[in-house]
Amino acid sequence: QISEAEVALFSVSSYACQRRTTLDNHNSNLTDALSLLAENAELNNEDGRGVAFRRAAALMKALPTQVISMSQLRGLPCLGEHSLRVIKDVLENGVSSEVESTKQSKRYKALKILTGIFGVGAKTADRWIREGIYNLEQLRHSGQTLNRAQKSGLEHYDDLNEPVTKAEADAIGEIVQKAVDSVLTGSQVALTGGFRRGKLTGHDVDFLITHPEEGKEVGLMPKVVAWLESRGFLLYQKTTRNSYLESKDGPARPASNMDRFERCFSIFKLTKGKEQETASHKIWRAVRVDLVVSPISQFAFAVLGWTGSKLFERELRRWAGHEKNMSLSSHALFDNTQNKYLRATSEEEIFAYLGLEYIPPSERNA
Ligand code: GTP
Ligand code: MN
Ligand code: MN
Repeated sequence: QISEAEVALFSVSSYACQRRTTLDNHNSNLTDALSLLAENAELNNEDGRGVAFRRAAALMKALPTQVISMSQLRGLPCLGEHSLRVIKDVLENGVSSEVESTKQSKRYKALKILTGIFGVGAKTADRWIREGIYNLEQLRHSGQTLNRAQKSGLEHYDDLNEPVTKAEADAIGEIVQKAVDSVLTGSQVALTGGFRRGKLTGHDVDFLITHPEEGKEVGLMPKVVAWLESRGFLLYQKTTRNSYLESKDGPARPASNMDRFERCFSIFKLTKGKEQETASHKIWRAVRVDLVVSPISQFAFAVLGWTGSKLFERELRRWAGHEKNMSLSSHALFDNTQNKYLRATSEEEIFAYLGLEYIPPSERNA
């Protein structure tokens, strides 16, 4: 038994963007439980609950040692009554009864399976469940009309639910670099998302493309996509203009060159290396890839915005708004007090504007 005096107390900042969160997690028993409840809330469109559990999980991820006693958590931010109850349950019983019953529930299982289809969100899955569809077999025989993304998602279900490795991400990076070089010399490709944060696997691969000369990037995405398509690298692609996706961010959306920001959701056909061929006879696998084109003037904001983690990004924007009276997006930073945009050419500058210590990508795994 450890006495009160011996128990290590933690001092942790309340915003995830003020903390350094690496991939080594000393409390995965607790963060797994909280993350599952966050996921379940999100799958049920309970966004507020989802964020509360995400914040609690992120706080536990940032702790430097393993928690063994509830008394160590005294005074810590981000831990609501519900999260504390879950943590207590895990510390005392090894598991959380709420997590266990959620995992067993027919609804949670069905939501997981159905939203595991690329192109299917929580709302669609909920509608299908209400119509008695709980799995892929039932969906296939239901006569439901699927859109192009969902058809592709169903077709490549197993591949797309198999984690992407860093080696596969690098192989795709080489293909994307080649495509970009071929259509516009001097273009740059940056790996973003989880792999930039040092993760060893991911659910997709994220790339950001730009050109050092402002304006040269206009029209780049369709050319890159055409190059990839003509060489058989794409199983699916949908290119969208990003213009209004972030309109709720208000002034952080510069009006003039917003229409240059394009995004392509795709499914790559990646030829397997010799080592991976054995299990099945298929010599290729499907991999989700996100491509984004940004003008160089917005590149630092885009890199910061697309590196994640999702919670880290959310917290950065919350910090900017609540603590600095600024609006941050993947396009720009607007200072509401000075009523002007703050220009930046590096992530370091953006953290400095925000009055935050610079956190490198590998420490943004909140
Ligand atoms: P895995 O892919 O699961 O390994 O994790 P990840 O962190 O790479 O997640 P994901 O690919 O979903 O997202 C990467 C980053 O892109 C995150 O920081 C997201 O917030 C960001 N992101 C995803 N979708 C959008 C979007 O529509 N607009 C903007 N601006 N950012 C997005
Ligand atoms: Mn990703
Ligand atoms: Mn992505």
